Amino acid sequence: MDLIIRGAVLPRSVTRAASGAHADERIDIGIEGARIVAVEPHLAAHAQQEINADGMLVTPPFVDAHFHMDATLSYGLPRVNASGTLLEGIALWGELKPHLTHEALVERALQYCDWAVARGLLAIRTHVDVCDDRLLAVQALLEVRRRVAPYMDLQLVAFPQDGLLRSPRAFDNLKRAIDLGVDVVGGIPHFERTMADGAESVRMLCEFAAQKGLRVDMHCDESDDPLSRHIETLAGETHRLGLQGRVAGSHLTSMHSMDHYYVSKLLPLMHEAGVAAIANPLINITLQGRSDTYPKRRGMTRVPEMLAMGINVAFGHDCVMDPWYSLGSGDMLEVAHMGLHVAQMTGTDAMRACFDAVTFNAARILGLEGYGIEPGCAANCVLLDARDEVEAIRLRAARVAVVSRGKVVSRSPAAHATLTLEGRPQQVDFKLRRT
Ligand code: FE2
Repeated sequence: MDLIIRGAVLPRSVTRAASGAHADERIDIGIEGARIVAVEPHLAAHAQQEINADGMLVTPPFVDAHFHMDATLSYGLPRVNASGTLLEGIALWGELKPHLTHEALVERALQYCDWAVARGLLAIRTHVDVCDDRLLAVQALLEVRRRVAPYMDLQLVAFPQDGLLRSPRAFDNLKRAIDLGVDVVGGIPHFERTMADGAESVRMLCEFAAQKGLRVDMHCDESDDPLSRHIETLAGETHRLGLQGRVAGSHLTSMHSMDHYYVSKLLPLMHEAGVAAIANPLINITLQGRSDTYPKRRGMTRVPEMLAMGINVAFGHDCVMDPWYSLGSGDMLEVAHMGLHVAQMTGTDAMRACFDAVTFNAARILGLEGYGIEPGCAANCVLLDARDEVEAIRLRAARVAVVSRGKVVSRSPAAHATLTLEGRPQQVDFKLRRT
């Protein structure tokens, strides 16, 4: 074999699915080429390279279901968002757009992909603005997708950021972007001039996606207005056009403020249509409820309720160091940590569900092939300095090793401090020790 990881613990979502393995059991993972070929307790084989996991968690890679790579790492260009508000962020993006160049877009995106790999984030769905007639960002991110393909899965969404109907050539540009190789159809119905225009944009985009056999992912109801109900139209169109399992609604923040009786009808509709939801906890908690006095709404969509209904829910990062968000480093455990807090998902199973929201659930939304830790799966995995998913979230655990397509592509030291208190040196690694 080419690589063996020995003595690993797997996430519950893997151990439940894999036959024979039970929680906390240490297993060995054998890799040949770019495939996992064996997952068993004591693998009687040798490999050119072996890694001793020593009880650490090995997970399939982190997956970001919602990102904006055309804006990332532009912090400070041409100035910073001093107020930190959505409106100043939109104005800032408008100021930055005329100065964008192909080379700078590619360079920033590649730098972010380096950060992502180091964080064990090996698949990203990024929206890309198609409202610029030059399709500058589309061309740049197609080049980035090509260049990172040997080690990372990048999926592009054609995003009519200024509105499909509101921006004169947006639909033509979106179609051109799809012809150039962009993967997914995007939209932003709540940004159209009227509710009716928003619904019309959903219909047009879903019909186009059905005709082309593509997936759909719309920024949908990113608003505190409880009457922003485009998700209902998106579920209806998904059902009508037979797009079940291929459609996601991103943000869905208006659902936070919706009438509860209405939501009791809406969630079964989403479930019936197989529409997935993508919450973006870092961005939702900073941008939503911003104009409230007190009490201030959190604004994130109803994650535990959707999961209980059987709707697939992922958490996305959305932004890192761009006009809308000045923080972030590509760490999906930070995203899961925030999601857990905002949704008050502190139950044992609920905390694990937050880990799944940045791994397994997101992979299903992207439709990633061979995602998992089982024989036959793609040899993509991350060794975390943690014993389980909850500890990984609590510690934002170090990515001790990141494996992509069967090769170790990143190593990080486990996090610890050395104390020298009154002459008794000791190591601290923030794990609970019991004697
Ligand atoms: Fe977004």
